[in-house]
Amino acid sequence: MLKAIFVFFSCILCVICYIVNPGPMYPPTKGEIWPLVGNQVKSKTYFVLRPQFFEFNVVNYDCSIIQQAITRYWLIINQQALGNFKPIQKLQNDLYKKEKHPNFEGFLDALNVNLTGSCKGDELPYFNMDESYEIEISKQRVELKSPSIWGILRGMESFSQLIYASEDLTLKVNFTTISDRPKYSHRGLLLDTSRHFISVKKILETLDAMAYNKLNVFHWHIVDDQSFPYKSVKFPKMSDKGAYHPVLRVYQQDDIKNIIEYARIRGIRVMAEFDTPGHTRSWGEAITDLLTPCYDKTSSKPTGQFGPIDPTKNSTYAFLKTFFGEVVKVFPDKYVHLGGDEVGFECWESNPIIKEFMKANNLTDNYAGLESFYIQKLVKIVQNLKSNFIVWEEVFTNGVKLPPETIVHVWIDGDYKGLMSNITAEGKKIILSACYYLDHLETGGDWLSYYRCDPSNFTATDNQKSLVMGGEAAMWSEVVNDYNVISRVWPRASAVAEKLWSVHSPNLNIDDTDNNVINLYIKGKLTSDTIMVAKRLEEHTCRMNKRGIGAQPPTGPGVCL
Ligand SMILES: *[C@@H]1O[C@H](CO)[C@@H](O)[C@H](O)[C@H]1NC(C)=O
Ligand SMILES: *[C@@H]1O[C@H](CO)[C@@H](O)[C@H](O)[C@H]1NC(C)=O
Ligand SMILES: *[C@@H]1O[C@H](CO)[C@@H](O)[C@H](O)[C@H]1NC(C)=O
Ligand SMILES: *[C@@H]1O[C@H](CO)[C@@H](O)[C@H](O)[C@H]1NC(C)=O
Ligand SMILES: *[C@@H]1O[C@H](CO)[C@@H](O)[C@H](O)[C@H]1NC(C)=O
Ligand SMILES: *[C@@H]1O[C@H](CO)[C@@H](O)[C@H](O)[C@H]1NC(C)=O
Repeated sequence: MLKAIFVFFSCILCVICYIVNPGPMYPPTKGEIWPLVGNQVKSKTYFVLRPQFFEFNVVNYDCSIIQQAITRYWLIINQQALGNFKPIQKLQNDLYKKEKHPNFEGFLDALNVNLTGSCKGDELPYFNMDESYEIEISKQRVELKSPSIWGILRGMESFSQLIYASEDLTLKVNFTTISDRPKYSHRGLLLDTSRHFISVKKILETLDAMAYNKLNVFHWHIVDDQSFPYKSVKFPKMSDKGAYHPVLRVYQQDDIKNIIEYARIRGIRVMAEFDTPGHTRSWGEAITDLLTPCYDKTSSKPTGQFGPIDPTKNSTYAFLKTFFGEVVKVFPDKYVHLGGDEVGFECWESNPIIKEFMKANNLTDNYAGLESFYIQKLVKIVQNLKSNFIVWEEVFTNGVKLPPETIVHVWIDGDYKGLMSNITAEGKKIILSACYYLDHLETGGDWLSYYRCDPSNFTATDNQKSLVMGGEAAMWSEVVNDYNVISRVWPRASAVAEKLWSVHSPNLNIDDTDNNVINLYIKGKLTSDTIMVAKRLEEHTCRMNKRGIGAQPPTGPGVCL
């Protein structure tokens, strides 16, 4: 039936009908690394890896982050072998003999893990940390080397991806040398847990998948208008009254600690966002004097509705000082996301007390100026707490005076390239999400639109381009909950991960005007580069599935074996 529909659509969509062949559309590659590594020399010579015998040798350090990674990857490698076991004797005695397999070079029973720098084990991953590593798989050396624990983690992931099951059901690793480092230091995934609550379990699964894709920032858009699931120490009433449920739909302090630790040992930063002054409706349920009361324009009476945080009250800033004082302690990352997007001015405009305040402060009719007034006070508070911060692009476009180290998060899918030129022209740093919105859905193959977005593709000097810190795939949760979050994010966010990590990720051009549609899922004529990326993404998706991540099929018909 599906096939019939497929043929039917193919025939309407294309001028020259093409014949459907049996089998997967893009057969998965074997042992290709996702995201693409910087430099790799490949070989046809290979080792056979016997998972029962395999071990990691930590060369010179006893570091808890590495010890825990070894346990994780040993399990992953052994899990990969399930169903692929051959009796060991058989393997050694007759299956694998050089005469039968000219490219076979022996068994790979250990990987030397050589951390050349130091490790205490309690480190937090941080912005711009060193994630570089080298791998050599050869007759002389089977080694993973890095100056930093974070590079060791990335290298272990790459090593685990080099292992593939061959037709004879053994696990193989080809000889190779790799030298790899990320293109951008900030490679994130934004997850909104306010529009729908996402359980701790699904957040941990998300962090696993992020590690498999070398993403390093979990941007936790934890609260918003609809619900306030953050269980505050100083203001517990905020979630009692503002969460969807005061017990079942909140993140307790212990949950947050667990999430941060789970992320930390995988080299992932947890950056919290407490978005203000808009998007705060749920905050006002407990902090009753925080939000601006809206007034009816004709009767000049309060409507009972509330708008953004009231920037005119001293109590607002006293609250923010205490609240963010807690936030920077609970979330130890050096950055906090302050939001600042989509501040609706209607409610401020309707309120006579706000109007009076604006007049007194020379801000008459200048609502962007009022927003600036607020943000600048908030920025001072956060700076006094010794935290760095990120703001959404409106804070820049509304002309808020910002300190030079500010990072601006670009999200509006308009002329975002023009905006990037403008922001960097002022010497400000950027994180890009505008072209990485995972809630913009198309049918299979829509990862391609993310893949075709290169954060450095805007008109600017090299110096300006160096101010692009990276990007984030964004998963807003209006129509996403525990049941679909994983399959909606993966493997679509993998395309973003490759664009942000890989120096040599190809620029996938397709001729959109070509009517010779090759398949229903990706329209246009595919270049060999695109086909190769599609095949690698098939392998990577199958790999995530095998590791328990419920990623959806990336492109079209296929099979994971
Ligand atoms: C790995 O080795 C196998 C067996 O020699 C070969 O068929 C395959 O092309 C190699 N893979 C890569 C990526 O070089
Ligand atoms: C680890 O790497 C360093 C730097 O390349 C090298 O000098 C050292 O011999 C290596 N250690 C082992 C045990 O291979
Ligand atoms: C708010 O604080 C400012 C500056 O500290 C002060 O001048 C002003 O009187 C205060 N307003 C109220 C209503 O307390
Ligand atoms: C408001 O602006 C006027 C005219 O520009 C200026 O004379 C006055 O000092 C300003 N007042 C404040 C409080 O900034
Ligand atoms: C960039 O700045 C110029 C000059 O101020 C302005 O005209 C233009 O609208 C800005 N572009 C964007 C996309 O913000
Ligand atoms: C840069 O963007 C333009 C469209 O704005 C596109 O035509 C071009 O292929 C892109 N180049 C790269 C390297 O992504």
